[in-house]
Amino acid sequence: MKENKFYSGDLAEIIITEEQIKKRIKELAEEISACYEPGEELVMICILRGAVMFMADLSREINLPVIFDFMDVSSYGTGTSSSGTVRIIKDLQENIEGRHVLIVEDILDTGKTLKHVIAMLETRRPASIKVVTLLDKPERRVVKHIVADFNGFEIPDKFVVGYGLDYAEKYRNLPFIAVLKEELYS
Ligand code: IMP
Ligand code: MG
Repeated sequence: MKENKFYSGDLAEIIITEEQIKKRIKELAEEISACYEPGEELVMICILRGAVMFMADLSREINLPVIFDFMDVSSYGTGTSSSGTVRIIKDLQENIEGRHVLIVEDILDTGKTLKHVIAMLETRRPASIKVVTLLDKPERRVVKHIVADFNGFEIPDKFVVGYGLDYAEKYRNLPFIAVLKEELYS
């Protein structure tokens, strides 16, 4: 496991290793590929910026033709809990009408972000919308009916960073998922 000397003093514990992430992504990609007709085109929508690593690695394991698009929404600012107001900062470039859409999220927490994104994308009448999230914190869910179609790992109610996930824009380049020391944000 790679150390990062700039961050290691900030991390309480590594909860998902690089190897575990790689293995799980292969399994998820198999599940996802099997859900669509062979050769069916999938528009993968990366929710910026946390899902960048996940989308890059997952898409390379998916056995279907894939189109990339990106959407940036913000609900957090630099804190660690959802404000409930979801702003669209960057919209899609693709027209998704009649196409199969897979939303790629880093983590499903309260569910407010996904609720908003799904509702907005549904008005554009895609053929289907599915959601894949790397992490899920079910204990934190506020929007109860929001569930991911595919989920990498269920984790406890702790603030985590790494593999795309940040705290105040830091730690995204860690290759694993780690719990951030509480004294850094409390
Ligand atoms: P939700 O709207 O509360 O479900 O928030 C989802 C978004 O909050 C994710 O896309 C993340 O950007 C952020 N988030 C939630 N929990 C964490 C965490 O533990 N670490 C880093 N970001 C998180
Ligand atoms: Mg995010």
